[in-house]
Amino acid sequence: MYLSREEEKLLDSSNPTIAKSMEILVALGEIYGAEELIEINSAHISGISYQNIGDAGLEWLEDLDSEVKVKTTINPAGMDFQRWQEMGIDKEFCEKQKKIIRALEKIGAKPVMTCTPYYLEDISYGEHLAWAESSAIIYANSVIGARTNRESGISAIASGIIGKTPYYGLHIKENRAPHVVVNLQGDIDPSAAGYRIGSILKNEIPLLRVDREFTRDELKLLGAAMAATGNAAIYHIEGQTPEWEDFGTPQEKIEIDSKDLKELEEFRCDPDLIALGCPHLSVDELKRVLGALERTGKTTRELWIFTSRKIAEQNVDLIDRIESYGARVFSDTCMVVSPATEKYRCVMVNSGKALTYLPKLRKVDVSFGTLEDCVKKAVT
Ligand code: F3S
Repeated sequence: MYLSREEEKLLDSSNPTIAKSMEILVALGEIYGAEELIEINSAHISGISYQNIGDAGLEWLEDLDSEVKVKTTINPAGMDFQRWQEMGIDKEFCEKQKKIIRALEKIGAKPVMTCTPYYLEDISYGEHLAWAESSAIIYANSVIGARTNRESGISAIASGIIGKTPYYGLHIKENRAPHVVVNLQGDIDPSAAGYRIGSILKNEIPLLRVDREFTRDELKLLGAAMAATGNAAIYHIEGQTPEWEDFGTPQEKIEIDSKDLKELEEFRCDPDLIALGCPHLSVDELKRVLGALERTGKTTRELWIFTSRKIAEQNVDLIDRIESYGARVFSDTCMVVSPATEKYRCVMVNSGKALTYLPKLRKVDVSFGTLEDCVKKAVT
């Protein structure tokens, strides 16, 4: 891979964090056949819950000794930083989690602790990014038309520190072309559709044909599910996403109708926790939750809702009204990366991503329904 003189110097830097970051980017570039590094506008770091990275990860982060060069944000942690006790998080976990965030702040990362960084700051079409967090990656590529590969937490940190990423994969326009048309028939739930599509596709990029326009929130759920059950990092939708017309129409076709989505009906258990907000809820989704609660009444089961701290702080009245029905709105974390979920037996979600990861990571049974189904269940 070609390196400029300045990049060569960084590779030989006496600062081990800078030299190691360059080594990581060069190694990745060589594996994937990149010819050069390109500048990025932002990095997003995932995998920062103490539950996931433990003491080894914490030590690694504390050893970092350089500042990020570009705006760098971070994913949800293992607890709400203000209400961790209410979540049942113990003091030791809390202290370790705080240390992780302090280590990231020390390198200049912004502790937004959300998987929806695109709600906080405008990301533009064509912008190059180095994001980890599969749901944010697929949203940035597909819905916004920005460009990022599926980075790991470590490569996102390296890119943040150097301000660059290897130029390969989805950074290159022609690699974003679809390989297969997926016809979705009927009024299909976006999480269910994404769950199914992700499990069918191998590494192909789909061009979806759908009967109706999806909202941005639905596109978020569709992509998050697709990226969880498969390796998807981009999709196109005819007439809806920004790059769908830029390429020819693939020959290969797959048909999916509501009968194909029956597999989600197998996820049935009697929930003792209903959890919404995977990915973190938007303001519109919070309003939908409130509307559903106003129609149904006070909760009789635990209803946990996850959104970013910034959205919560900007919508205090909305959050208070949701909580007046007995729900709890948490920030900085989510039902998948927090150990708090483990004390429950069955968790009901409206997210194909949470459906995929909760049994694996939190060892709980799962049940699936729409946002409105979930709220209804919480009051019965
Ligand atoms: Fe976000 Fe947690 Fe889901 S990080 S996408 S809410 S698993």
